[in-house]
Amino acid sequence: MSVVLKTENLTKSYRDGEITVDVIHNINLELQKGDFVSIQGASGAGKSTLLSILGAILLPDSGTVTVNGKSLTQYKNEGRLHEYRKQHIGFIFQNHYLLPDFTAVENVMMSLLIRGEKRNSAREKSIEVLEKVGLKERINHYPSQLSGGESQRVAVARAVVHKPDIVLADEPTGNLDSNNTQKFIRILQDLQKTNQLTVLVVTHEAELAAVAGRKYFMKDGKLLDAPH
Ligand SMILES: Nc1ncnc2c1ncn2[C@@H]1O[C@H](COP(=O)(O)OP(=O)(O)OP(=O)(O)O)[C@@H](O)[C@H]1O
Ligand SMILES: [Mg+2]
Repeated sequence: MSVVLKTENLTKSYRDGEITVDVIHNINLELQKGDFVSIQGASGAGKSTLLSILGAILLPDSGTVTVNGKSLTQYKNEGRLHEYRKQHIGFIFQNHYLLPDFTAVENVMMSLLIRGEKRNSAREKSIEVLEKVGLKERINHYPSQLSGGESQRVAVARAVVHKPDIVLADEPTGNLDSNNTQKFIRILQDLQKTNQLTVLVVTHEAELAAVAGRKYFMKDGKLLDAPH
């Protein structure tokens, strides 16, 4: 088994005037290639903060994040944090954040174009992934012409088309009804299995958490094993 991501004694607090709030408290997490891990927990438990640190949007106060054997501190010292995000990470949020003036396929292509891929192959790969998420007939639609569930599936395609090492998903089904939630789960699971994707998903949705191979709860900035 190969370790894709490892955190050691990760700590983060927010300071608000005189008050310091510990949001991430000594988190040790290890993801192996192909892992599907879920994190549940109350609002304010620190879940989004943790994902932001893993995705190098936020820096921890102390502790380390290592991805494929290289620490984020190394990336930072080399001025390559943006490259880390581009190469290694795929993000899925509660809102799809598709660009409204671009079609579904163009939104997905963008993910590859910013990584230096040529237009033709970017288009080919994007269409292939959109087919996998069941949107073959929708590739030339604009976000305003797509349903919420379809838009979120375009967002999934955009998050995985560059074959990231890790997909970080923050409440990805938060805006979906139960039918679209089920579709979303099936697609994510399928991509994870066929592409050996490593997925870390934060969710309130028991159904989504249930498909994870490993389940955690976050409470007061600590990561606890979820009861079986
Ligand atoms: N930029 C910030 N400055 C100060 N405090 C912050 C900041 N961002 C988050 N916090 C606080 O840190 C704590 C954890 O926030 P976080 O967004 O990680 O929680 P969460 O588990 O994702 O919650 P939710 O389920 O509501 O999304 C909260 O108490 C929040 O108020
Ligand atoms: Mg959150």
